[in-house]
Amino acid sequence: MKFNTKTIHGGQQHDPAYGAVMPPIYQTSTYAQTTPGGHKGFEYSRTHNPTRKALEDSFASIENGKFGLAFGSGLAAIDAVVKLLKSGDEVISTNDLYGGTYRLFTKIFEGFGIKFHFIGMQNADKIEQYVNDNTKLIWVETPTNPMMNIIDIKAVARVSKKHNLLLAVDNTFATPYLQRPLDLGADIVMHSATKYLGGHSDVVMGALVVKDKKLAEKLYFIQNASGAVCGPQDSFLVLRGIKTLHIRMQRHCENGEAVAKYLKNHPKIEKVYWPGFEDHPNHNIAKEQMDSFGGMISFVTKGNDYDKAIQIVEDLNFFTLAESLGGVESLAGHPASMTHASIPKEEREKTGVVDSLIRLSVGIEDVDDLIEDLKQAIG
Ligand SMILES: Cc1ncc(COP(=O)(O)O)c(C=O)c1O
Repeated sequence: MKFNTKTIHGGQQHDPAYGAVMPPIYQTSTYAQTTPGGHKGFEYSRTHNPTRKALEDSFASIENGKFGLAFGSGLAAIDAVVKLLKSGDEVISTNDLYGGTYRLFTKIFEGFGIKFHFIGMQNADKIEQYVNDNTKLIWVETPTNPMMNIIDIKAVARVSKKHNLLLAVDNTFATPYLQRPLDLGADIVMHSATKYLGGHSDVVMGALVVKDKKLAEKLYFIQNASGAVCGPQDSFLVLRGIKTLHIRMQRHCENGEAVAKYLKNHPKIEKVYWPGFEDHPNHNIAKEQMDSFGGMISFVTKGNDYDKAIQIVEDLNFFTLAESLGGVESLAGHPASMTHASIPKEEREKTGVVDSLIRLSVGIEDVDDLIEDLKQAIG
């Protein structure tokens, strides 16, 4: 089955009760049993729910995995992955990553005795310097949020396999429309389904997909034991979102390219970060591991002018100033004070998250209107 068919049919069956084409929203916490243990595969909705199951099967299908898991948020999904580890274990993570992931690693899990090494992974050979007997997991975000760095998943997978480590890839920015990490050697794919998978800025949700049955069993155990699951209504909404993922992504990519090129030629803009540019440091890897370059773009104003950056985000109209990304509508963000405020300024600036950096999530509106909007705001 090809990707554009998987988004609609992957892992889906018509509802056995009445043949409903979309899975009903099974808004129930529990299920009748005829005798203790005598049930139809569903006992309690933290453990299993038919609407969530339909969504989890869709996640598995679109990521070319075997097992999907849905959580109450992207961070809850990441939390479940780190709970595979124990005190004394070590993680090597990309240094340029979503601020909330950094906060979870450093403010929660370091307190439980897990050690994190945050490193630039643009050159995968560097990772081996940090591997020791305690290393258990490599955490990769690509493209990274918000600097749009590209990490070579295949090259990192060679390191993880050589040292018998788990490799998890946060595929939120690319989505499986552009990049399928399990095919490139990753063990776990993670999503903030809040973003492109949901696609309409109306749900907060997380996803994991794996191929290996033993790993899936451990993660299902954590999902049930820790209990950070999503509800049936949200499951329905994200399943509906996935059905148009391919056509939304196609337009996000087209609009993203036009906006990136417009900004690059603008005299008041210093630098534009978008992996589709030939002078992007890892453009060749992006070309190899992604099918196109997506609709996420970051840029800095000439002279690193903080006041100018703030004026731009305030004056935009179609780009709403807001956290989040990946919805049909365009959003603009100021990472240093919003999504990445939880990373200390010193750390943030090492990776390029300066105070004049603006991040755009380019939506699927008419691109002429988006460019007109940027034109009036930048001046
Ligand atoms: C790349 C990335 N990963 C993870 C997350 C966390 O997901 P959530 O907000 O759904 O918990 C986000 C949220 O912005 C993100 O951008």
